[in-house]
Amino acid sequence: MTRVLFFLLFFTTLSLSFITNAQDEIPTEEARISEGESLFKGNCQSCHKVHEKLVGPALKDVYDRAPSIDWIVNFVWNSQKMIADGDEYANELWEEYQPTQMTAFPTFSRDQILSILAYIKVETEAGPEVVADVAATGEGVQPAGESIPAFYLNAIMVGLVVVLVLILVVLILITSVLRKYLNQRGDLDTDDQEIVNPKFSFDGLIKSKPFIFMVTFVFTAIVFKVVINQLFAVGVQVGYAPKQPIAFSHELHAGQYEIDCQYCHTGVRKSKSANIPSPNICMNCHSSIKTESPEIQKIYAAIENDKPIEWVRIHNLPDLAYFNHSQHVEVGNIECQTCHGPIEEMEVVRQHSLLTMGWCIDCHRETNVNTKGNAYYDKLVELHSEESKEALKVEDIGGLECAKCHY
Ligand code: HEC
Ligand code: HEC
Ligand code: HEC
Ligand code: HEC
Ligand code: HEC
Ligand code: HEC
Repeated sequence: MTRVLFFLLFFTTLSLSFITNAQDEIPTEEARISEGESLFKGNCQSCHKVHEKLVGPALKDVYDRAPSIDWIVNFVWNSQKMIADGDEYANELWEEYQPTQMTAFPTFSRDQILSILAYIKVETEAGPEVVADVAATGEGVQPAGESIPAFYLNAIMVGLVVVLVLILVVLILITSVLRKYLNQRGDLDTDDQEIVNPKFSFDGLIKSKPFIFMVTFVFTAIVFKVVINQLFAVGVQVGYAPKQPIAFSHELHAGQYEIDCQYCHTGVRKSKSANIPSPNICMNCHSSIKTESPEIQKIYAAIENDKPIEWVRIHNLPDLAYFNHSQHVEVGNIECQTCHGPIEEMEVVRQHSLLTMGWCIDCHRETNVNTKGNAYYDKLVELHSEESKEALKVEDIGGLECAKCHY
């Protein structure tokens, strides 16, 4: 009897250790998890969420569900090969998700894929994010943080004006009552009478020189200001948001589905231009998502007729100016939103910044150069810190030189 019990115990621990074995390999160090997080966000997030199905399956528990850790590694390296080789589990997945193919990541090391799994595991154990009831708490109703103080400021101003007008009305009432009372007493001498009923005439005031001068001055100042503003606004198109040929929404793709900007704007980290995606990139998903939608049909038409989609350009510097995305995004580490605003909330993209020379220059005067981990700047930082206590600004590396932006 004890022997049977012993065997039972032995086998349960053995099988338990077998189940957990697969997971033992997944690292738990903080550094690996955050490495995994950035790999996941940069490469997988466009198609996978942890707790929800997106283009591909939800990845929670995948390390338990898939045949083995090795299987996952091979699948990430080249899923189509496994499907072609007749792997049973891979073909079941393919049945469900075809014709969408998972991108192959042959350049990832096994350790990198394990880091991604580490991140997925942490997210799995944390459970799905509970979205706070925004409407109920009233938070998030204000579209942008900045607009809240502006809103209150306006309310306070209006309140003040109302109070001032009320005070004025009360004062006028009081004086007129007092005047009536004093006039009725009838025991005032002529001097007092003059004080109570001043010989004030509107006519005199309007014709007086100081008054005419003041009015002309204020009027000219306002006209001048309007003209100057108009002149400065020539060619400035803040808020420009043309209708696009396909009702493509950043709010949906970049906001709700959290597709990385770089997934579509492929050049943004490595070249001057950010690039507008070709219809092929849309097809990675829309060969199987919303295929019946008339808007999506327009993508198919563009591909069939071999005619590019004619997106209307929104941001456009004149030819005389040179702007480079990779310099700002990759080297300078500036967020897209700093220049383009909250794109991930825009149904239709609109121009957020002025894009004037003054706008470029102001930022170059104020912004510190991202020198960390960039050996190119080591010598400059050293030289600079001998002369000045302030951090190295773009201005200090020549960001105000005409020839850097004009050539
Ligand atoms: C272009 C979209 C796309 C990208 C990018 C992508 N996947 Fe996938 N993934 C899929 C699809 C679709 C499937 C379902 C199988 C198939 O159709 O090939 C899948 C399946 C999987 C599976 C198996 C899931 C299961 O339920 O067993 C794993 C694991 C996986 N992906 C991991 C990753 C990782 C890790 C990355 C990032 C390095 C990644 N995927 C990037 C689309 C994608
Ligand atoms: C699924 C693909 C996709 C993703 C993801 C995406 N975009 Fe776009 N983006 C487009 C397309 C297509 C256009 C052109 C149509 C339009 O203006 O809406 C565009 C236009 C733009 C423009 C205006 C270009 C012009 O004409 O001046 C900006 C700026 C921009 N995107 C920034 C971003 C940022 C920032 C993100 C990430 C938060 C992002 N995009 C994510 C596809 C994408
Ligand atoms: C990584 C996947 C992915 C890519 C790439 C992608 N989309 Fe989408 N798109 C989606 C998802 C998911 C939806 C939402 C489908 C739904 O509402 O069920 C969607 C919805 C849409 C819709 C709304 C369709 C409707 O009728 O509701 C349009 C239009 C659209 N996408 C255009 C584009 C264009 C144009 C591109 C290429 C520049 C593109 N998409 C690239 C995933 C993608
Ligand atoms: C320092 C400010 C700045 C940052 C940061 C920035 N952009 Fe731009 N972006 C611009 C300017 C300026 C233009 C107009 C360029 C031109 O006309 O030559 C532009 C144009 C674009 C365009 C239109 C196509 C093109 O390449 O001219 C897209 C798309 C775009 N940006 C996407 C992005 C994305 C995505 C990011 C983040 C990864 C980003 N931008 C970060 C300033 C910026
Ligand atoms: C949000 C701040 C910001 C804005 C706006 C901005 N820049 Fe920059 N710019 C930077 C930073 C930071 C760097 C330094 C990047 C680096 O380390 O090389 C830089 C560098 C440059 C350089 C290289 C300078 C050098 O000496 O190597 C050029 C050229 C440039 N910017 C042009 C522009 C133009 C043109 C505009 C306007 C259309 C603009 N920038 C708007 C932040 C900005
Ligand atoms: C950081 C980048 C940057 C630097 C440095 C810079 N500019 Fe510019 N400049 C621009 C941009 C961007 C425009 C286009 C502005 C627009 O379209 O409103 C421009 C426009 C101009 C124009 C044309 C104005 C017009 O109305 O078309 C002149 C002239 C000019 N710059 C001269 C200079 C001179 C001279 C210097 C050196 C003292 C200089 N710029 C330095 C970015 C720069």
